[in-house]
Amino acid sequence: MIEAATATLDRNWRDGYTLPSPNLYPFQWNWDAGFIALGLAHVRPGRAIAEIRSLFRGQWGNGMVPHIVFHRPADNYFPGPDVWGTDPVPFRPAGVRTSGITQPPVFAFIVERISALPLGLTPEWAAFRREIFPALVAQHRHLYRHRDPLNEGLVYIQHNWEAGTDNSPVYDAALEAIDLTHARDVSSLRRDNRKVAAAHRPTDASYRRYLALVDLFNACGYRDAEIAERSPFLIQDVLFNCVLARSNRSLLALARAVNAEAGLVAEIERWCERTSAAINAKFWDGQRGFYFPYDLRAGRRIPIKTSSGFLPLFAQVCDAEQRRALARHLTSSFAPGADWLLCPSVATDEPTFDPVRYWRGPVWVNVNWMLHHGLRQSGLDDLAGRVRADTLRAMGAAGRWEYFDPRPGTPPAALGLGTDEFSWSAALALDFQLNPAPL
Ligand code: GLC
Repeated sequence: MIEAATATLDRNWRDGYTLPSPNLYPFQWNWDAGFIALGLAHVRPGRAIAEIRSLFRGQWGNGMVPHIVFHRPADNYFPGPDVWGTDPVPFRPAGVRTSGITQPPVFAFIVERISALPLGLTPEWAAFRREIFPALVAQHRHLYRHRDPLNEGLVYIQHNWEAGTDNSPVYDAALEAIDLTHARDVSSLRRDNRKVAAAHRPTDASYRRYLALVDLFNACGYRDAEIAERSPFLIQDVLFNCVLARSNRSLLALARAVNAEAGLVAEIERWCERTSAAINAKFWDGQRGFYFPYDLRAGRRIPIKTSSGFLPLFAQVCDAEQRRALARHLTSSFAPGADWLLCPSVATDEPTFDPVRYWRGPVWVNVNWMLHHGLRQSGLDDLAGRVRADTLRAMGAAGRWEYFDPRPGTPPAALGLGTDEFSWSAALALDFQLNPAPL
């Protein structure tokens, strides 16, 4: 499996960065680059720094790290750079085209994880940590300054593509609220549903809404304040905030390691405390014993159980009772039998559960990796072991697919979904096998 995973990363490497998948995602993606850099650090250490540097070449002057960096043109993806229309934005970087939204900020904890590997002990890595630290601070600061309108220590996402969990049913109601009077029909422009089975991908009706938001951001000149005022889609997402909380901890350790000045260390300490507390204050539903995202427009939680609801374990913000409640959900509504693959992206007893469609049921390797480490940090070692074993079992049987059908008895040929040779699945297969230490 190590050889096969390395071959996937080699195949998707393009002189400085890695494509998530050449046929479906022909550019560099934000959080993908983080997970991929970790995999590269194990087997192609010379490429890990380049991967991260390439992504941050796309960082905007306001600190925002875009979700796609279009290093080179490719015509097999929609929406490409012309649709995003970010060229006239004054604070976009020179010399490279990008999308205009971000993705979960994984880099600080990725840097921490790589620092414990042999690459992490080299002078190149020590210099790189000093180089990347200010960019990471700018990334987190952008989120706190421009995505926390109520000053709660929680940031909101502007688009379901910012969540990473793009097609999760938790975004359905907010997307439904979009006025489509002037929205264009994008069905003939899509490329994704011609490359992989349409049943594994979002519907045309959903894509129309996704693009209506992009058109709105364009009309707002990508100014966050204007978007916050006009957009129907403002969601405080559980996964996004948990990734931010976990990265804050790593950023704090990094700040101390690079001797950052006291004021900056204090600023990061405040981010750590406020976001951790706010996750429990706003997302935790004591009655259901689960964490749910919050729709700022509608002014309510979105009570649909998804795998993101477990990631407060990864953020290390749960008390003993919360840990027990989450463990119960993991082995009941998410896996009604011991032979189900953990962890379905939506609980199997939700009406929106669909075992084969993009983020509506299938298992994703990066969520499992974060869940595994969260369970270990919480002392839930048996469950952590099961999540790791299930992830490796699925990839061992089917290959490094984008996502996997969680149902028991699915034949290997039908287990893998979306695109095959998916880079972060390969990269995290490597970390699962080559670094047994907890994060
Ligand atoms: C899919 C995933 C997203 C990922 C992208 C590129 O859209 O939902 O999280 O970043 O593919 O792999």
